[in-house]
Amino acid sequence: MDSILVKGGGELRGKIPIAGAKNACLTLMPATLLSDEPLTLTNVPRLSDIATMTQLLQSLGAEVSSLQDGQVIVMSSRDAENPVADYEIVRKMRASNLVLGPLLARHGKAVVSMPGGCAIGARPMDLHIHGLEAMGATIELKDGYLHAEVPGGLRGADITLRFASVGATENLMMAATLAKGTTVISNAAREPEIIDLAKCLSAMGAQIDGAGSPSITIQGVDRLTGATHPVLPDRIELGTYMLAPVIAGGEVELLGGRIELVAAFCEKLDEAGISVTETTDGLKVSRRNGRVSAVNVRTEVFPGFPTDLQAQMMALLCTAEGTSVLEETIFENRFMHAPELMRMGAQIDVQGGTATVTGVDRLKGAPVMATDLRASVSLILAGLAAEGETVVSRVYHLDRGYEQVVRKFNGIGAQIERIKS
Ligand code: UD1
Repeated sequence: MDSILVKGGGELRGKIPIAGAKNACLTLMPATLLSDEPLTLTNVPRLSDIATMTQLLQSLGAEVSSLQDGQVIVMSSRDAENPVADYEIVRKMRASNLVLGPLLARHGKAVVSMPGGCAIGARPMDLHIHGLEAMGATIELKDGYLHAEVPGGLRGADITLRFASVGATENLMMAATLAKGTTVISNAAREPEIIDLAKCLSAMGAQIDGAGSPSITIQGVDRLTGATHPVLPDRIELGTYMLAPVIAGGEVELLGGRIELVAAFCEKLDEAGISVTETTDGLKVSRRNGRVSAVNVRTEVFPGFPTDLQAQMMALLCTAEGTSVLEETIFENRFMHAPELMRMGAQIDVQGGTATVTGVDRLKGAPVMATDLRASVSLILAGLAAEGETVVSRVYHLDRGYEQVVRKFNGIGAQIERIKS
């Protein structure tokens, strides 16, 4: 298994282009199943999760071709006749569950393995299931697979989500585009990826109102057409790289970055003494003074502080002045990076969903292990400012969500290399 060697020290300066959003792309791709006509996505990030979704769609009978070095994908589901999403592919990535709604809308039947993904919590599927049941489907769990059926086709329904789940909102929105009648999703997720999905589905002829608000109304239509849609910038990649010059010193411009994608995160950076300014091409980030101040962070659904930036923020706060309290409210097991950061000299006390971080002057390089996607990049960030060398193993997690990570960090002067095993 490959690892990444990070040599700490040295300021970072330069520009980093931000790729298209992984999480948006993983929900836009299954939307192809809703139409017989081609769906083209541009600004696609080149990641192993995208390759996994490609493989899954192909296994369902869709044609997926990749152009311009993977930055454009053209999908056609005209001959997608297989409603079975196999465990061997689904287990690699939880977002595979996003084919459930589209398959059911298309075939009136879907057999989808219960997903795997990052080991950051239980991550059940009840909200997806209850929503689709409200639309007339019967769903049973057999042999690790969800067997869903709706012989007369999906019907519009009023659905109130117990929790504003991103995936459930996306699955239900896609299913509702072809249902008979009107669906209203209340307590819907409001993440920018939901708005992006609504834009794409609307370009395909769907009738959707309210995406980005807690109440989304979808008027079902008979069929959807093809479309071409640019994937929005990845706000988590953006937030991650914004922290690089803060942790290591220097100033970096994030090309394509927009404050509204990371507003709650920017508020915390401001509180910690970090300057974020808008430029014509993106965002520029640097420390205002010497050392960053401790801040308290509580993860929340959008527009709150994103759980997907919690690990990276913790890496920053390890060397902040004072004590920070990080509260994780979205996933129950998302502090696996804490013991690894402690191997580098961080002072962290984890009690349930709360981590108390007391800043130290400097971290020390150490061999550490990536435990999930965002945890892995937090260890690289920590390594940038640490004394000596940090070796992050199990970097396959990184390949799932960070395009050309070594090249991007090296482009701003970091000393990082991938060690092939
Ligand atoms: C998406 C993102 C992920 C991000 C998360 C929260 C994708 C591909 N992934 O994941 O990067 O961390 O949003 O912003 O977009 N839950 C239930 N029942 C359900 C569904 C979810 O209880 O049926 C719970 C989960 O266990 C979790 C919480 O809701 O505790 C959030 O999950 P959800 O918003 O669904 O996240 P994902 O869509 O899986």
